[in-house]
Amino acid sequence: MSPPKISRQYLLPAGRKDGYGNLTIVEVEVPKLKVTEVLVKVHAASLQYRDLSRANEFYGGLKGREVIPGSDMAGEVISVGEDVTEWKVGDRVCANFCPTHLYGDATDTTLEGALGGVVPGVLTEYRSFPSQSLVRIPAHFSYQQAATLPCAALTAYNALHGRKQIKAGDTVLILGTGGVSIWALQFAVTSGATVIVTSSSDEKLKIAQRLGAKHLINYRNIPDWEEEVLKLTNGVGVDHVVEVGGQGTLYKSIKSARIGGSVAVIGILSQSDFPKDIFHVVIYRAIELRGILIGSVALFRDMVRLIEANPEKTTPVIDKVFTFEDGVAAYAHLESQKHVGKIVIQVSKD
Ligand SMILES: NC(=O)c1ccc[n+]([C@@H]2O[C@H](COP(=O)([O-])OP(=O)(O)OC[C@H]3O[C@@H](n4cnc5c(N)ncnc54)[C@H](OP(=O)(O)O)[C@@H]3O)[C@@H](O)[C@H]2O)c1
Repeated sequence: MSPPKISRQYLLPAGRKDGYGNLTIVEVEVPKLKVTEVLVKVHAASLQYRDLSRANEFYGGLKGREVIPGSDMAGEVISVGEDVTEWKVGDRVCANFCPTHLYGDATDTTLEGALGGVVPGVLTEYRSFPSQSLVRIPAHFSYQQAATLPCAALTAYNALHGRKQIKAGDTVLILGTGGVSIWALQFAVTSGATVIVTSSSDEKLKIAQRLGAKHLINYRNIPDWEEEVLKLTNGVGVDHVVEVGGQGTLYKSIKSARIGGSVAVIGILSQSDFPKDIFHVVIYRAIELRGILIGSVALFRDMVRLIEANPEKTTPVIDKVFTFEDGVAAYAHLESQKHVGKIVIQVSKD
């Protein structure tokens, strides 16, 4: 295959007044590869809540800037720089969300390099990546399935396996049924945990049940869902909480955890005032609150091992696939919050 010269890619122009409604497809030249880089033909990408926030300007830092969106892609290596030894043409890869976050904790520098922010993203047909930022995708995954991994799956994996490791027999509370939450459900079930899922919808809860959730709570019908969690755990509380709701749910999540339990603080989807006794609850129940920031290349590789060892329990849940040209509709579907799992965009025809 001769090297492509042009890549079609999405652009969010500066000064966008209609948020993601201003997304446009532009043609750009494919840049010349550096010696340590790999050129990837992007087959599929998935959308994150962050992409919506960026487009609608309620995610700090990029107000008024031009953005090439998208952090998550899966694709095929089509050429390699002359110093690259670990990849060859035809390899199937994802790029890590923060390409230079190779292992351990993130740093300010690795975070600045996050894809789809200040650094151009992956909603493009061809993109070069530093060779060390790439991870081999699970052998049995399609590109669409693999595109769900870099942000949502790795964040969920980090929440449960990153530091305080989940054990078989643990009880895990998972909030919601979006991209991060469904992957957390699958990793928790794969690890032999008992899983409680909350959701706004009984229909979504049925999907969670099919994926292995044992207890289901509709938080619209049961606003005091933390009390229900305590009942389900004989008053003890859960070992781990995967907390994506933010201000409006954090207090309840903390009250749902057992003494010494952990709460992985991941998302900000709701607003509310914290009750004053939140500090007492954290201290007197010895709760471990841990902010999660996606994950490293090393953690991504560990996650792929877990997925390949448990293919029957880790099939990605893809709510809907959109064509590349239908990017605005894909964002609108994400905004509707009707989805379960991930929303995928087919970037190049396979
Ligand atoms: N820290 C990190 O590294 C990291 C990484 C990825 C994502 N995030 C953040 O995590 C959050 C979730 O991301 P995502 O990609 O999974 O989003 P998503 O796919 O849009 O899913 C969000 C889900 O959360 C539930 N939800 C919405 N509003 C809620 C509320 N007020 N209270 C409780 N649940 C609510 C909904 O499920 P139900 O209808 O079933 O309730 C919804 O489907 C976002 O804030 C995102 O920015 C953080």
